[in-house]
Parts: sequence; C-alpha cells; structure tokens
Amino acid sequence: MRLDKLLGNLKYGSRSDIKDAVKAGRVTVDGIIASDPGLDVNPETSAVAFDDTPVIYKKWVYLMMNKPQGVVSANEDAVHPTAVGLLKHPYDRFDVSICGRLDLDTEGLLVLTNDGDVLHRIISPKAEVFKTYEVELKHPLGDYSRLERGVQIRDGKEQPFVTLPAQVEPTGERTCLIRIREGKFHQVKRMFEAIGNEVVQLRRTAIGGLVLDPALAPGTYREMSYQEVLRAIG
Ligand code: URA
Repeated sequence: MRLDKLLGNLKYGSRSDIKDAVKAGRVTVDGIIASDPGLDVNPETSAVAFDDTPVIYKKWVYLMMNKPQGVVSANEDAVHPTAVGLLKHPYDRFDVSICGRLDLDTEGLLVLTNDGDVLHRIISPKAEVFKTYEVELKHPLGDYSRLERGVQIRDGKEQPFVTLPAQVEPTGERTCLIRIREGKFHQVKRMFEAIGNEVVQLRRTAIGGLVLDPALAPGTYREMSYQEVLRAIG
C-alpha cells in the first residue's frame, strides 16, 4: 500500500497534508525518514511513525465498550458526548460503527467495529441475537408472563409491533434480567410500560455470548479479537 494511502485511511490528513508532512520529515518507515509519499509499505509489517508516534494499522477492529449514562450511541452529536468520541489513539483513527445503539440513559455493552459483516450479524433482525439487560423497575415486577408470550408495543415509527417472546429472570422485587431478540427503539422500556411498569435503570450486559467485561469501568473499552467475537455471536 502507498504510504500516503495508509496515512489517509487512518485520517492523518488530506493527501496534500500528508505530502507536506512527508516532505517535512515527520514520517518514518522502519526508523528511516520517508521522502516519498508514494513509498510502498506493508501495512502489517512496516514500522511507520508519524511525529515519532507509531502508526497502528489494522484492517478490522472490534471494540467492547461499557457505555456510561449521558453518552450518545453515535459518531457525532451536537449536544452530548458520543461513544465514538470516547475512543483514543489508535482507535480514534478507524471508521467504526456501533452495533446496536443504547439510549442516552442506558448503560452497558456496546460493540464498535469497522467490519460490516460482523455489524450485520449482530444487528440484522434475521440473526435474532439475544441481548441481555439488567432492569430496575419503579414498581414490583409482578406478573411478567405477557412479556414471555410477546406483547404489543409501538416501534420507532410509532407503529404497533408485537415483540417476540422474551426471557425474564427475576433477581429481586423490582429487578430482573430480560433477554430479547429484537432491538426496536426503547424496546425494553416500552415492553415494561405495556405491562404497567416503568424502567428506572437499564444496563446491557450481553449480546449473544459476548458478555460485558466486568473489568471495564463505565466509559472504558477494550479491543477484542475476531475469534472472540465469532465465538460469542457465531
Ligand atoms: N431497550 C431500551 O428501552 N433502551 C435501550 O437502550 C436498549 C433497549
């Protein structure tokens, strides 16, 4: 791959910015100052540095994040901090997308990747990947059998939508785990609303077999290998 293409893909600037940086001696390849922006480099094996900071190239990145409340599941937002905005070097240089958004006030597991195939496998309604949420309710849980059969809610377009049977596991008088196979707008909140309750706290702990790493404090993330992702989502 050309050096300027590698750096351009990783958002080091426009082609002319990169040309200027190379001409100014700010880029090294295997410890030698590069003079030609068109130099052929092997992105996997050449040690490229920009202003003495190693340039990390990966074709695919898979990140597990513990999204805190108050952070939007988006790449950009005019008002709130975003999940993608929390990423630091080198991950801020990849064009990642979020696999299954969480509401502003929902915490927990987010997967971010630039691998469209994995993204599709996680979010495609056909894949029916179970998402697990810890729920805290305003009122005692009571009879939740309607959630296990399927309940009518409104979808993101405010159209009536009957949910697939969910799995509910009580964990306390006002708390439970719920596993759902869909991801409609505010789905868990709307499901509990449909049975006369209200979600006061929501936290996603798993997507398929991918479980939120307990070592990740809210707002932190870690890279996963492709094998780890595949093992978890099949
Ligand atoms: N269901 C919700 O209501 N909110 C979320 O953030 C995720 C699932």
